[in-house]
Amino acid sequence: MSICFDLLSRTFSYRFPTKIVFGIGSISRLTEELKRFKFEKILMVSGPKVSRTEAYSVVRNFVESTGANLAEFTTTDAEPDVPLLNSLASIAREQRPEIVIGVGGGSSMDLSKLASALSVNGKDPISYFKGEPVPIKGPPIITIPTLAGTGSEVTPISVIVENGVKLALVDHNLFPSLALVDPSLSRGAGPEATASAGIDALCHAIESMMSVDSNPVSDALSTHAIELACSYLERAYCNGGDLEARAGISAASVLAGMAFQATGLCLPHGIAYTYAVKRSLPHGSSVSIAEPYVAIFNAPAIPGKISRIARAMGVDTYGLSASDIGLEVAFRILDITQTLSLPQTLEDLGIGEHEIEAMVDDLITNHRRFIIKNPRKPSRDELIDLYTDILEGI
Ligand SMILES: [Fe+2]
Repeated sequence: MSICFDLLSRTFSYRFPTKIVFGIGSISRLTEELKRFKFEKILMVSGPKVSRTEAYSVVRNFVESTGANLAEFTTTDAEPDVPLLNSLASIAREQRPEIVIGVGGGSSMDLSKLASALSVNGKDPISYFKGEPVPIKGPPIITIPTLAGTGSEVTPISVIVENGVKLALVDHNLFPSLALVDPSLSRGAGPEATASAGIDALCHAIESMMSVDSNPVSDALSTHAIELACSYLERAYCNGGDLEARAGISAASVLAGMAFQATGLCLPHGIAYTYAVKRSLPHGSSVSIAEPYVAIFNAPAIPGKISRIARAMGVDTYGLSASDIGLEVAFRILDITQTLSLPQTLEDLGIGEHEIEAMVDDLITNHRRFIIKNPRKPSRDELIDLYTDILEGI
């Protein structure tokens, strides 16, 4: 029996063009790495908090040491929306940078990819989120995460919000040329941000493994990402100065990003999108609320995969049925989210039973792509039951 991927009947491809430079202190390699490119103008994209940190100053100093003509774009605190996208497009088209550097968390890095693409593709920015292709590759994108978890440093994906709905743009022309991951840059991140971003990496790895499009490459990446996240996330949360833990969760973020950019994500991310924006919840903690219950729901449909996920999490699966293993995976995730003081149920967010039908409709209407990737296709009634479980908890 195949343990995950059907080797006899399936074909897969895996594409990944980004160079990764990873390590504590590796930011000192930035000047040398920049010399690989021809440039005069650089645009740095970051968030309002990040732009005031020491990590940002360190990056900026290295960029300035090259003598480049430097422009900076700072986003707002809120989730990137259409007005922000339009002002980013105006600046990128006016500046015409030859390199774009995204410094910060997922939003900053997502927007740096858009700045690159929009600087050379002139249509209405939002149209690219609605099926318009991105025909021209923009200037090289360099991602420098200062918070570990989203995986945005290695994916060709950008997410923005339009009228309360999260839209994603996925295009090969958005792949970063270089991801420079120095875990010491995340040392200044507070426990809450560390927890919410870090749990996203664990969820990415689990969902990539569960995805109907997982393959031997992504499974290898996901398995190790799960091991790293389960070993280091709680440590990084409890002691932000623990550099080994910071490096462990940074590596988990990279590996999980490399996995899910190829496989897509499944139900937990789709479910999270139906309440995260309205409740202004950090992305990772909105996903981790749904993750345990989807693991239980999916387990009978993916006996081989759920065993591998469980073993990577340190669960002893000997003699257990797939359903029991799904439960053990759920308990392990709940243990971690409890340690991280993250919300565990929809009730914790103040969401009531009367809101479930509307969230199910939103999921089916606006986020079907996550249902398509899920290994067990839920009926509407099963989704209502699943939301009820997520509302009340185990
Ligand atoms: Fe995510």
